Amino acid sequence: MKMEELVNYCKQYGFVFPGSEIYGGFANTWDFGPVGVELKNNVKKCWWKRFVQEDSKTYGVDAAILMNPKIWAASGHIDSFSDPKMDCKKCKQRFRADNLIEEYSKGVVSAEGMTNEEMMKYINDNHIVCPNCHGFNWSDIRQFKLMFETSRGTVEGEKDTVYLRPETCQGEYVNFLNVQRSMRAKVPFAIAQIGKSFRNEITPGNFLFRTIEFEQMELQKFCKDAQAMDVFNDYKKRALQFVEDLGLSSDKLRFHDHDKLAHYAKCACDIQYQFPIGWEELNGIHHRGTWDLSRHSEYSGEKLEYLDPDTNEKYLPTIIEYSIGADRLTLALLCEGYQKEKLADGSEREVMHLLPALAPYKVAVLPLIKKNHSAKAMEVFNLLSKNFSTTYDETANIGKRYRREDAIGTPFCVTIDDNTLTSNMVTIRDRDTMEQISLRIEDVVPYIEEKIKF
Ligand code: GAP
Repeated sequence: MKMEELVNYCKQYGFVFPGSEIYGGFANTWDFGPVGVELKNNVKKCWWKRFVQEDSKTYGVDAAILMNPKIWAASGHIDSFSDPKMDCKKCKQRFRADNLIEEYSKGVVSAEGMTNEEMMKYINDNHIVCPNCHGFNWSDIRQFKLMFETSRGTVEGEKDTVYLRPETCQGEYVNFLNVQRSMRAKVPFAIAQIGKSFRNEITPGNFLFRTIEFEQMELQKFCKDAQAMDVFNDYKKRALQFVEDLGLSSDKLRFHDHDKLAHYAKCACDIQYQFPIGWEELNGIHHRGTWDLSRHSEYSGEKLEYLDPDTNEKYLPTIIEYSIGADRLTLALLCEGYQKEKLADGSEREVMHLLPALAPYKVAVLPLIKKNHSAKAMEVFNLLSKNFSTTYDETANIGKRYRREDAIGTPFCVTIDDNTLTSNMVTIRDRDTMEQISLRIEDVVPYIEEKIKF
């Protein structure tokens, strides 16, 4: 499926709508619709369950989006969080020079380690034209700041610049000692959070892949330096296992080690997914050394050292970070799940094969004939919706309603018919096999509960 088709599909079925659409849109912002918000919430729930709930050494936080601006000086974002941009002088479109090179070379050449001069030379030598107007009239490459600024002022005319956070992890670093002390945590332990981040991306696009506002699911493991490589390798494995368990196929996933490392990093590795636009980063696992805690110690004046209660040793823990975008993962799951299937009678159906735990609605309640069965069907809806997200549909014929549920990924349809009125039996149809079984109403909840576990 091409990305454009997926965008239309998502709009048609209530997954995702273009942001501010009735005002002509607002480039690269998207609104999750009634179906999409359920899906993204389930993605976040599964991540939290796997990495926080099921790990006795990981603690969750929900830090403020607006933080003391000194944090962004300490993290290096104020000085150096920028991308190399260039403008096409003919059509006035703006591009990232590194992206132009990587797209031109189909990922063979990485611009990660190139200087602006080297990138300009590569673009000129290879006569890389503007992807929009195919002209060859480029501006110089200049650095483009990626942090959104806003201001905070109590006195008219006196305003301080504050920033919308471009990553959630700083809220984890600055709370290292708060979490460690309040939870009596011993190193190694991790802090995790899920939240919005904002980046003034130059060439956002490709639907949910790169947007200016997105959600990150980030985790920092604080450990002894000697343990750090084992922790790094462990999170590589766990991160891969997680996305495979959610339903991404292993032949569309691969590790990609970074060519260029930050000066403090020992290693960094992405997991890439084969999106319709090619192999692209899905998540990152980074060895960050003691850089973050040492910088925040320096800039805040607070010593962020850990005192080992067993050895009385004081030290700055090394950090291994695991970071994944909730929107980007949702996009990968939509790309993976969509299928157009030919049926035995020659007709076609569109199906979103989502893992039941991720499906926006776990079950749809469908009265076979509205005037005869809707009262009973509403009773069943009221019973099921107390246990899991349930949808109700009494419009159109039953075949069309099944098709709609297939298209939004509902794994089970419960049909209410005359048999339900006389003997309390319902029919349950499976999305993937389209097979139907009969169950007593009181057995439906345990039957579905069992199937939607993650
Ligand atoms: N704290 C580390 C960090 O933020 P990153 O590689 O810049 O690292 C981590 O981002 C993840 O966040 C990416 O792997 C991706 O899944 C997601 N992400 C980053 N920028 C994004 C954007 N503009 N739109 C959507 N998702 C994004």
